[in-house]
Amino acid sequence: MSRADLLVKGRVLADGRIARGSFGVRDGRVVPATEDAAQVLDFGDLLVVPGAIDPHVHFRDPGAPQKEDFGSGTRAAALGGVTTVMDMPNTNPPVFTRAALEDKLARARAKAHVDFGLYAGLDEKGEALSILREASAVKVYLGATTGHLLVRDPDLVRRALVAAAAAGRTVAFHAESQACLERHAHALDDSYPSHAHARPAECEAEAIRMLAAAAAGTGARVHIAHLSTAKGLAAMGGTPFSAEVCPHHLLLTQDALRGGGAFKMNPPLREQDDINALWRALAEGRVACLASDHAPHTREEKAAPRQGECPAGVPGVQTLLPVLLPFAKTGRIGLARLLDASVAAARLFGLPRKGSLAPGMDADFAVYDLDEERPVRGAEMASRAGWTPFEGMPAVFPRHVFLRGAPVVEEGRFVGSPGAGRFVAPP
Ligand code: DOR
Ligand code: ZN
Repeated sequence: MSRADLLVKGRVLADGRIARGSFGVRDGRVVPATEDAAQVLDFGDLLVVPGAIDPHVHFRDPGAPQKEDFGSGTRAAALGGVTTVMDMPNTNPPVFTRAALEDKLARARAKAHVDFGLYAGLDEKGEALSILREASAVKVYLGATTGHLLVRDPDLVRRALVAAAAAGRTVAFHAESQACLERHAHALDDSYPSHAHARPAECEAEAIRMLAAAAAGTGARVHIAHLSTAKGLAAMGGTPFSAEVCPHHLLLTQDALRGGGAFKMNPPLREQDDINALWRALAEGRVACLASDHAPHTREEKAAPRQGECPAGVPGVQTLLPVLLPFAKTGRIGLARLLDASVAAARLFGLPRKGSLAPGMDADFAVYDLDEERPVRGAEMASRAGWTPFEGMPAVFPRHVFLRGAPVVEEGRFVGSPGAGRFVAPP
């Protein structure tokens, strides 16, 4: 065997256990540990884990570069230990067509600091059905939110599932039933708490039940984005669907909405009982996957006095794993389980060579000192949003991050270069 470029030593995660270990890196891929390496990186007792995969970010590129673009968004990702992101299609223009997908791909290739997948978005005309193989995954909005991507026709949803199954693409759903949202729209007024009351838990459960019927027999892989309620979790029972959960739905209740626009997102923040149910499901693996739903809006927009003038969404790609790692120390969740959730998107979306440090995989990894806790500060975040819903909460940020064997973060400082990120998609 020829010489490795790196030999990496530390406390590593292998086969679901964390123990002292090592692995090699050659040509950006993991190889078995070998002493015959050009460089040895010995991280001692620090934790060396696969780079996190965030299957749900909104980088606003093209359309709203004042909020984010692929440069700023992937820089934030890297600083949070995320080495692969999957970007949502509700940009402007939205990713319905081959031209829009190719335009976004060119932008991302030029600017990205970490690897990226791109979603095609299903529109009412079903245009996206002809570009499924060019995209990494498909997104369907069953309820209205930022952008205009609502799909109301259940037959179209079913056709999309059949086409996605044939193309080998997972379909992620924004699972809030539009009919249910419309039944509750009367609860909306100018106040921020009314936003949560107008999008109740039953709308999530209703959407998931509708999907269970629509997906039956299609063979499609269905993924529920940002699962947020105990009722939604119950509706998942008996389905083969996977789901992701976001840190904001684990750490904040809807009481936070009294604090204004920084806590407004779709689906909204929920009750303590929902939080408890989500934590249990995550800890037991019934919810397999973490995602940030990084959805930056400007501070000015989020400071609107009336909720109706404030766009929904919060930034979070940089804090995805960092704000949850402290809970692996208190025992709320096992560390190996949490880390698995941080890479689960690789298998749920079929991303080749991502999600583990087994030989042959991309050498994407992050190094953490779990004792290095510090409060999250929005002003220090790399996102153009410049704020965070987790202000002041304890977090463990990575000390070093590597993308395919090359450093992107060193001693907590960003050292990446634009264009290093590559497009990832299932075969
Ligand atoms: O809060 C949200 N913001 N939820 C979404 O579904 C979309 C997102 C955005 O793009 O701003
Ligand atoms: Zn989203």
